[in-house]
Amino acid sequence: MISVITGASAGIGAAAAAELSRRGHRVVLVGRDERRLKEIAGGLSGPKGEVLRCDFASLEDVRRLASQLLERYERIGVLANNAGVWSRTRQITSDGHELMVQVNHLAPFLLTHSLADHVDRVVTTSSRAARTGKLDVDDLSRARRRWNAWIQYGDTKQANALFTVALAARGTAATCFHPGVIRTGFAPDALLMRLFLATPGYAKPPEHGARPLAYLATHEDGIKHAGRYFDGETPAERLPATMTDPDLAERLWRSTLAATHP
Ligand SMILES: NC(=O)c1ccc[n+]([C@@H]2O[C@H](COP(=O)([O-])OP(=O)(O)OC[C@H]3O[C@@H](n4cnc5c(N)ncnc54)[C@H](OP(=O)(O)O)[C@@H]3O)[C@@H](O)[C@H]2O)c1
Repeated sequence: MISVITGASAGIGAAAAAELSRRGHRVVLVGRDERRLKEIAGGLSGPKGEVLRCDFASLEDVRRLASQLLERYERIGVLANNAGVWSRTRQITSDGHELMVQVNHLAPFLLTHSLADHVDRVVTTSSRAARTGKLDVDDLSRARRRWNAWIQYGDTKQANALFTVALAARGTAATCFHPGVIRTGFAPDALLMRLFLATPGYAKPPEHGARPLAYLATHEDGIKHAGRYFDGETPAERLPATMTDPDLAERLWRSTLAATHP
């Protein structure tokens, strides 16, 4: 079984690579830092891991990654869309999108869409921040609305949940999850994250965050509950409509398709 994990160079992705490898998956580690990816691949306990370099800040790079994956593997058992970033300042990529929306939503959309029928299941690392998302499908980069780092991040994680809904509507076994508050290199200059990390016992180790990813990648719940957002290993109840509304999910699909296929 081939499992492709993005953001595998650190944190939750690296821990998920170790766990899926232990379970016998042939893991393809995707990230920006080839040296770190190779180090992690070298430490896997299962089948030999492979490494592919890709910077999600470039949609051209994502297209190249998708072609490489399609050339190498006839079928991909699991695509784990895990790479993610938080940025204190509003940065615009060379593609003209706000950085977080590109790395956290547009790039995984483009990758998943390009691999289409070759993937058996998709697992996306969302976040509890999705509950606060107020995305506007016509203004994903918040060019016309107030920009704030956590608000934009929330929009992108809301987009992960809605993308999962839209994928499931198209027959893909897609789920997403909140990993918990995890001690990783995520958002190192965010005050909130520093407070979480400074609270004894609050932030959990990367292996904890990787557990739901490995669960949804291997357990039948990852198929049975297609379209759902999980809190850890449990399908979440009472989510806001902003994360579950099928019409909004379709409108987001169309605007994302337009943004990634100019
Ligand atoms: N930690 C938490 O408490 C927490 C809570 C909820 C959700 N999450 C989500 O969990 C996921 C994994 O984050 P983490 O906590 O494991 O943080 P992390 O240690 O910072 O890992 C993030 C991963 O994403 C990759 N990435 C960042 N920007 C990228 C880009 N432009 N192109 C390609 N890859 C890029 C990083 O690669 P580099 O090593 O090259 O930077 C790294 O491998 C993210 O989606 C995050 O939003 C985390």
